[in-house]
Amino acid sequence: MRIEQPTDEALKEAAAAIRAGRLIGMPTETVYGVAADATNPEAVLATFEAKGRPAENPLIVHVASIEDARRLVSGFPAYALTLAEMYWPGPMTLVLPKGPQVPPETTAGLETVAVRVPDHPVALRLIAASGRPISAPSANRFMGLSPTSAEDIEPSVGDRLHMVLDGGRCRVGIESTVVDCTGDRPLVLRPGMAAIATEAAAPSDRRSPGMYPRHYSPRSPLRIVESLGARDAGITLKVPQNPLQIRLPSEPVAYASELYATLHLLDRCKPPEILVEAPPTSQDWAAIWDRLRKAQGS
Ligand code: TXA
Ligand code: MG
Repeated sequence: MRIEQPTDEALKEAAAAIRAGRLIGMPTETVYGVAADATNPEAVLATFEAKGRPAENPLIVHVASIEDARRLVSGFPAYALTLAEMYWPGPMTLVLPKGPQVPPETTAGLETVAVRVPDHPVALRLIAASGRPISAPSANRFMGLSPTSAEDIEPSVGDRLHMVLDGGRCRVGIESTVVDCTGDRPLVLRPGMAAIATEAAAPSDRRSPGMYPRHYSPRSPLRIVESLGARDAGITLKVPQNPLQIRLPSEPVAYASELYATLHLLDRCKPPEILVEAPPTSQDWAAIWDRLRKAQGS
């Protein structure tokens, strides 16, 4: 796996690679993604293969502006436009009726397409330099933990990439909010740190093909507990009692930002189990609870 600083030269090479149908490790403000030309079916299929991901789970297409998003869709309801204006660039993905420019491979045959404008200078430069809409699922093996730094991309995925552009640590730290915008009202398919107050889809909702009960998991089993014991390995909100306990901030934005990096770190120590102290249950922790529950497999 080749990690490069995002110099003009590296960006130019990465953009040419995207246009040639290859895969690039791309930083975003949420997590790192496997970037490809979203209009190239072969590149998109290579993305699924690199992740070991079933081809029935559609990809998010990353663009630079609302105008660019409009070119990929066949409709943009007023409430969705409001969301785009409020949150883009940012961790908000909108599912909209698909236009003919998007091949069925990218959307797993669905008549909708997920789009967002990422809030990361390197991602925006790659989109601009390649002149293509860029599909990018999180750069982890299927069901695994998303990477929030270039170093946390597993070799099995990294080896499939032409290069990884190093954009530093991802600021948000968990994946974007996914909102279905094909009905009368927005419907949250995947909660994220861009929180909007609306209905959430039921896990069995056919509109959310990516909602597997187990997901975002470290290799060691993860369990949510009230409190860590003196010898446990895991994440605490209190004073750590041994070197395999890591304290995370008791504020959700800062907690989310460090969550996956901390789980990657603990996972590398191969503890029999990773225990995570239950964070508060208020609404501003909902996206974190979603990821913890999925990591636990419940
Ligand atoms: O923050 C993020 O969203 C990151 C960065 C790289 O942008 N990407 C990401 O992609 O998390 P991925 O592929 O790991 O997750 C995309 C989610 C999946 O749950 C997928 O099912 C859902 O978005 N999705 C994509 N297209 C969809 C569509 N047309 N309808 C419903 N859900 C869709
Ligand atoms: Mg993912």
